[in-house]
Amino acid sequence: MTDQRFLHNQWSSRLAFVLAASGSAIGLGNIWKFPYLAGENGGGAFVAVYLLCVAAIGIPIMIAETMLGRRGRQNPINTMLSLAQEAKAGPAWHYAGWLGVLSGFLILSYYSVIAGWSMVYILKMNSGYMSHISAETAARVFDDLKSAPEIQFIWHTVFMAATMLIVSRGVSGGLERATRFMMPGLFIMLILLDGYAMSSDGFGQGMSFLFKPDFSRINGESVLVAMGQAFFSLGLGMGAIMIYGSYLPDHVSISRSTIFVASADTLVALLAGVAIFPIVFANHLEPTMGPGLIFQTLPIAFGQMPGGSLFGVLFFVLVFFAAITSAIALIEPAVAWLSENQAMSREKACLWSGLSCWLLGLGTVFSFNLWSGNTWFGKNFFELVDFLTANIMLPVGGILVALFAGWIMRRETSETELEMGSAYNYWRFTIRYVSPLAVALVTLSAVGVI
Ligand code: TRP
Repeated sequence: MTDQRFLHNQWSSRLAFVLAASGSAIGLGNIWKFPYLAGENGGGAFVAVYLLCVAAIGIPIMIAETMLGRRGRQNPINTMLSLAQEAKAGPAWHYAGWLGVLSGFLILSYYSVIAGWSMVYILKMNSGYMSHISAETAARVFDDLKSAPEIQFIWHTVFMAATMLIVSRGVSGGLERATRFMMPGLFIMLILLDGYAMSSDGFGQGMSFLFKPDFSRINGESVLVAMGQAFFSLGLGMGAIMIYGSYLPDHVSISRSTIFVASADTLVALLAGVAIFPIVFANHLEPTMGPGLIFQTLPIAFGQMPGGSLFGVLFFVLVFFAAITSAIALIEPAVAWLSENQAMSREKACLWSGLSCWLLGLGTVFSFNLWSGNTWFGKNFFELVDFLTANIMLPVGGILVALFAGWIMRRETSETELEMGSAYNYWRFTIRYVSPLAVALVTLSAVGVI
């Protein structure tokens, strides 16, 4: 019999999942990374490939990863171990969990530095110094930040400390509540910026850059970057969504919840792109300027709006919130593993993982100044960590999730977990053949193996 309280619990747990998963998905990847990657990789064609990757690879894998989490209900390493046991497969599958723990750790090391930049911009917008700022001054302000290791050091430290404090207390109710305001807040700010962009001279040019595909402008590597960005932005391939999958009670539709999260994530990325490129073209800036793109364009827009300082502060505060809800997802698998498997207290696990992640992050801080001349395979330290994680480790993690869900887990198990009706066969075909093959082909061809 249906009981009112039971139904209510179901609903709030589904909401908890959607909030936690969107908190993890929506972050610097959408607001900072997506626009500059689209700018560097030729615009429309990159966006088209990205959307295709989200739909054909990202969503099926997101469904699979969430399902593994709900079935396993432990940290990613133990989940893989016990699910492999359940399916009578070898214990080697738990290395997939390992790979995830490591990727999250590596990503957070640079994520924290960039989140530190957005905290610096909260102060800069607040000082009023950015009002009516010219494109040249905006570029200079950003360059000054990039070449100042000590300032980045401070804010990287502050951000990492804040993240670890939250994680050490257990993923807190407070933060979940903050997410409820943050998401709509971020959405409203982006719409406001889009409104501004619409009235600017560069709107037409910005839109055609972003949405008119010119496929001659992309190559194997940009397809790999688009696919890596789909993994990164959705937060896939490292076990974060696996952990969140355990929030889900048995009867909630995994496919519906994940499709909702993936759509919200994609919408936020596109809204950010629509806000930024018109400013780029109206001010005769280069779309290829890289990681500084949002920091050199958005202050120009805020500088010209009435009440722009206030909106600017608010915007970067929201970016900070979006970043921190992703950061806790990035480190949670490592902390869960240290505290559950190595019998460390949660505080100690946070301290050690936070400290080592922070140390590694210094490499990113210095890659923009002191070490900018040091490159490996033509990439500086930040670019190397980014390439290795987003474009290699997450896709490999994704292939493993797909292979496990499609080939190792028994059909009856996934069919019962997913309850997708006739759509199940479509998902199963995609997860068995389309996703792993597509990911493998793109990765291998971009790194030059085939
Ligand atoms: N998706 C986040 C962003 O776009 C980053 C992130 C959070 C992530 N959790 C993840 C990336 C797990 C890869 C895997 O900013």
